[in-house]
Amino acid sequence: MSTQTAFDEHAYKTDLRREWREAAPGWQRWLEVLEADSAMPQLGRWLLEAVQPQPGDRILDVGTGYGEPGLTAASAVAPGGHVTLQDLSGEMLALAHDRTARAALGDVEVDIVEGDADELTLPDGRLDAVISRSMLMYLADPAATLTRLRAGLRRGGRLAASTWSGPEEVTMASPVAIIRRLLDLAPPPADRPGLFALSDPQRLREVVTAAGFTEVEVGTATAVFEFDSPAEATRFMRDCAPPVTALLEHEPTEVRERVWQRVTDEAWEPYVGDDGRVRLPNLAHCVAATNPG
Ligand SMILES: C[S@@+](CC[C@H](N)C(=O)[O-])C[C@H]1O[C@@H](n2cnc3c(N)ncnc32)[C@H](O)[C@@H]1O
Repeated sequence: MSTQTAFDEHAYKTDLRREWREAAPGWQRWLEVLEADSAMPQLGRWLLEAVQPQPGDRILDVGTGYGEPGLTAASAVAPGGHVTLQDLSGEMLALAHDRTARAALGDVEVDIVEGDADELTLPDGRLDAVISRSMLMYLADPAATLTRLRAGLRRGGRLAASTWSGPEEVTMASPVAIIRRLLDLAPPPADRPGLFALSDPQRLREVVTAAGFTEVEVGTATAVFEFDSPAEATRFMRDCAPPVTALLEHEPTEVRERVWQRVTDEAWEPYVGDDGRVRLPNLAHCVAATNPG
């Protein structure tokens, strides 16, 4: 008999909103690590290279979080361009607001829009590109959502998105196996949205193709996060990684602290350099595709 419970999208989205609301202060605190040149910008560069933003272009960044890679794209579409930064979490978008206000963008319009990408409907054919970094795997129905996003693109408009690879290649997620082992947690059902839901590049390709895109190319990029010590790497995960911290949310404080201590002792050891610093390479699968119209 199966012990799997049916997927409850409403409950999933309620949790997802709360998790990202709670993570937003952490993303503010760790922005320097996230935005270091070897880290998330490596993925952003792959995506922007794939869509080649031009002055005057209209671009939508779905699941933009603190505003990336949309804000980087904004400087490329000046003068006269338009960028929409979209996210489920108003608290993550507050960071995007702040960064937009401080960016010297020139003649570009930036709209910041809160909402669920799974429910987004767009005016037909107006966008030149849709970009999305590290978000598609959280969608309840990625193929259906990508189909609606495609309708928002002009003929020949481009999609570029990245998702995380599997746990062996995403070293920041090393705590997951340790937490599951210590708490005796079963792995999630394979068809559920989550951190590794689109970790298979073949599945990523299939989802994008099923949404009606053509010229689908899949590549990789690596984001390296760097920390002064194992304890700092653990603090980063506790502050910034809702899919990981959620595994512990119902545990008493004392259990939680014990598990995090084990994470600090075990998870980062293979990535500690002679200088004592922790360098965590994280592989992303990146997809680029065209709307055939
Ligand atoms: C890992 S963060 C990525 C943020 C940013 N794009 C980056 O690369 O740094 C994932 C973001 O996706 C957002 N998100 C998750 N599910 C979403 C959905 N259904 N619609 C819109 N945004 C969503 C979260 O609120 C969060 O800000």
